[in-house]
Amino acid sequence: MSVVVTGATGFLGLRLVRELLEHTPSLTVLARPGPRSAVERITTFLRWSGLPEEELRRVPQRLEVIDADLRLPLLGLSRSAFDRLADRVDVLWHCAADITYAPGRGEVDATNVGGTRRVLDLLSAGGRRPALCYASSIGVAGAQRDGIVPARRLDGSHGFHTPYERSKFEAEGLVLDWAERHGHPVTVFRLSVLVTDRAGYPGWPEHPLRYAAHAVRTMLREVPQVMAADGSMTLHEVAEDARCNLLPVEHAARAMVGAAHLGGTPGPPRIHHVVHPLGVAATDVASALCEHVGVRVRTTAAPADAISEAERTAHAIIGAYLPWLKVSRGYEESGLAALGLSYTDRPGIDRDYLMASLR
Ligand SMILES: NC(=O)c1ccc[n+]([C@@H]2O[C@H](COP(=O)([O-])OP(=O)(O)OC[C@H]3O[C@@H](n4cnc5c(N)ncnc54)[C@H](OP(=O)(O)O)[C@@H]3O)[C@@H](O)[C@H]2O)c1
Repeated sequence: MSVVVTGATGFLGLRLVRELLEHTPSLTVLARPGPRSAVERITTFLRWSGLPEEELRRVPQRLEVIDADLRLPLLGLSRSAFDRLADRVDVLWHCAADITYAPGRGEVDATNVGGTRRVLDLLSAGGRRPALCYASSIGVAGAQRDGIVPARRLDGSHGFHTPYERSKFEAEGLVLDWAERHGHPVTVFRLSVLVTDRAGYPGWPEHPLRYAAHAVRTMLREVPQVMAADGSMTLHEVAEDARCNLLPVEHAARAMVGAAHLGGTPGPPRIHHVVHPLGVAATDVASALCEHVGVRVRTTAAPADAISEAERTAHAIIGAYLPWLKVSRGYEESGLAALGLSYTDRPGIDRDYLMASLR
């Protein structure tokens, strides 16, 4: 069984690699070349995550790395290398994406939409019928404020807060269209915002909560006047009932690999919401983020036209994360529990967890 992974050097991909190596003797990783090799980055993570030395020594033999870039024609491979890979892949985990929430539309589209199209071309090009496991996002529900997001194809009618959300919606649509056309086994994982309470190591890929903390720090540096004399700042338009869905990344990776092993049969594509059963009050997330950077936060539901010029500039800097403070929706139970994958040992995300994840 030939298993191929994109995005293996990322925050989620590293945990997926660890889970997958427990089920398969070897993995092929499609990775962007960089100053540190993919094998080195993966081995550093596996050591940090506690893999015994004896197993670590065998990792380089168990990983085949192919230099690839999602933004390039044929993923940056030569025609013959592309065809050879297409002819031997049995399962592909497509996890690579540009997760920066705020850049221009073209940048995220090139990686997330164009890259997914090229991955689907790869899967169609060979003589086999490879399965696809695709890392989607609950962000595909876009600006849906409340209600329950169904575990089926969405129509995008609520609009989107960010180019990233739209790109993930469009990419998921490509995956579902392709599944219908070609009939390959496809599993779509709509992932919550993934976090961890384990302290990282130098150069580790961080999680969105930490990116949000960096944005809050930048905001305070660039617009210090948003801080009142008493050291507090006000966030406007925060819905009182807003809840964020956050999930420990370790549990997401375990559930994804578990679901793929239990349910890899042909048929219509399966869509799983890989989410926490309980949301966290958005006000708790905002307070944890602000406390972490040394400022107190007040939240108000006051509309945007009531805010000062400085607050408007400040909101623009952290704008990519403000949608977290606006939605109170839930997610349809999508079969993970039926597969025995609800993981009741999953920690609740409380204030202590939030603070630990930001340390
Ligand atoms: N993190 C979350 O909370 C979250 C939530 C919902 C969904 N997701 C989805 O889960 C997946 C993984 O996210 P993540 O948090 O692990 O992101 P991440 O830490 O930023 O990792 C992204 C991965 O994609 C690779 N990549 C980016 N651009 C590429 C390109 N042009 N060509 C080849 N590889 C490229 C990166 O390679 P380099 O190491 O070379 O940069 C890295 O391995 C994404 O599809 C994301 O949309 C994540």
